Amino acid sequence: MPSDTMHNIQAVIFDLDGVIVDTAQFHYNAWKTLASEWDYALKHEDNEQLKGVSRMDSVNKIAQWANVHTTTEQLLDVAHRKNEIYLNFCNQLTPEHVLPGIAPLIEALRASGVLVSLGSASKNARFVLDKLGLLDVFDVIVDGNDVSKSKPNPEVFLKAAHHMGVSPQDCVVLEDAPAGVEAALTANMKVIGLGDASELQKAHLVLDNAKNLSLGQLNQIKIKGVA
Ligand code: BG6
Ligand code: MG
Repeated sequence: MPSDTMHNIQAVIFDLDGVIVDTAQFHYNAWKTLASEWDYALKHEDNEQLKGVSRMDSVNKIAQWANVHTTTEQLLDVAHRKNEIYLNFCNQLTPEHVLPGIAPLIEALRASGVLVSLGSASKNARFVLDKLGLLDVFDVIVDGNDVSKSKPNPEVFLKAAHHMGVSPQDCVVLEDAPAGVEAALTANMKVIGLGDASELQKAHLVLDNAKNLSLGQLNQIKIKGVA
């Protein structure tokens, strides 16, 4: 019965970087610059492990890969300079940079009474959303300033569900990162991976992008995913 299934999803939680906008590439380029100061050539595979991970957890991982043992003060300095490079890239963002399918999907969800939330590890989330003209479309925004544990910990998604007043089982998460997919599964939510299927195989469904993603499809995932 389609009318019953339409009520299954109560909320959709969007990751930001790599889902709403292609800032994943900005993070990668900025980290590459800093890693090269440690004579470490950051690889694509490394970057997959940094997606969804907080700034300080990322700098610690890179230091480890580069076999650099340094002070917390220096790590903080590297993270700070990485952020300056990153924000410079972000300054060029406009509403045209919202990835395909995202804006119409948010609109369709809101029109159907489905709550929409942001669940991002980024402390720059509000700045980026503002650049994209999307600051006011979310019912709830949970970002890197609101959580103490980085994905794959489910804290960011559980907080978003809590603030929306919905059960985790009634949420679908959109994610581009393996750490984010794991966080959503640990939160007991359904998850759609957007991007490389070989990196996101644990997701309930993997799509190249959100171009043709509809509420009907989201509801089907919920039903298919019920254990
Ligand atoms: C996540 C990105 O969304 O945010 C990570 O996938 C990034 O690459 C993390 O490290 C923290 O972002 P920010 O903007 O607070 O440095
Ligand atoms: Mg992401």
